[in-house]
Amino acid sequence: MGNDLELNFTWAHEQKPSYLEFIERVLGEVAGIKREKRIERRIVKSGLRLRKNLEAFDWAFQPKLDRAAIESLATLHFIEQQEDVLFTGKSGTGKSHLLQAIALKACKMEISTRYARSVDLLDDLYAGLADGTYERRLRAWSRPQLLVIDDVGLGQVKKHHDEPTAAHMLFNLLDRRHLQVSTALSSNIKLSAWGKYLGDATLAAAVLDRLAMNSIYININGPSYRQHMARKRAKERGFEPPNEQT
Ligand SMILES: Nc1ncnc2c1ncn2[C@@H]1O[C@H](COP(=O)(O)OP(=O)(O)OP(=O)(O)O)[C@@H](O)[C@H]1O
Ligand SMILES: [Mg+2]
Repeated sequence: MGNDLELNFTWAHEQKPSYLEFIERVLGEVAGIKREKRIERRIVKSGLRLRKNLEAFDWAFQPKLDRAAIESLATLHFIEQQEDVLFTGKSGTGKSHLLQAIALKACKMEISTRYARSVDLLDDLYAGLADGTYERRLRAWSRPQLLVIDDVGLGQVKKHHDEPTAAHMLFNLLDRRHLQVSTALSSNIKLSAWGKYLGDATLAAAVLDRLAMNSIYININGPSYRQHMARKRAKERGFEPPNEQT
């Protein structure tokens, strides 16, 4: 701050602004710094651990992906419209990258945002069943204007016969959020496999039904960037590159 003030004095000395122009400049800088701090707090609180952006996305690598559709999502207009977003596609196709970039942008626009992998979100709700805070936790996950539930289908979902299924919890959450606030999900398992994965076919269908009603659906049909990087690295080290898995 001291340095900034010194710079401002140097600027004032050289440019000879009016007193008001000088004050405006200093106050503008203070407001800018405050805003940056607010945004930083928002990003930390959102649960985003990686800061991905669209600038780092290699579009040429994923030619079947509709770039215009992603760029339109990145305007965040869908959040104003309380629309949901669903990304599907095989592992490594960039689903999480794109959702993380959208969530980061939402934080920067000062939109209340939470990001969680689906297993972590479900674990949190299960912990609430154990200590009597389920309702409070459900409410907390219901509130953000944008909630990203990443990687549905990855990781082990708990199954206790005396507890509600993961499908039940996800249904409760999405039912509260539906048409009120936006939820963006990604999954690398087929939608028809959600029932088995979440432990209840009827409730999983009810979740997907709500999503189908008001969501932007993007299926990424293409190669895995992780495998591409692995092949590239193997080549650089002079190893036989692994074969493309299908
Ligand atoms: N087109 C791309 N350009 C640049 N980086 C990419 C691209 N696609 C994926 N990546 C990078 O590759 C890695 C894997 O991508 P990502 O995590 O988004 O895959 P995913 O579709 O979510 O896979 P999974 O289904 O296994 O969760 C990440 O580090 C991501 O940043
Ligand atoms: Mg992912």
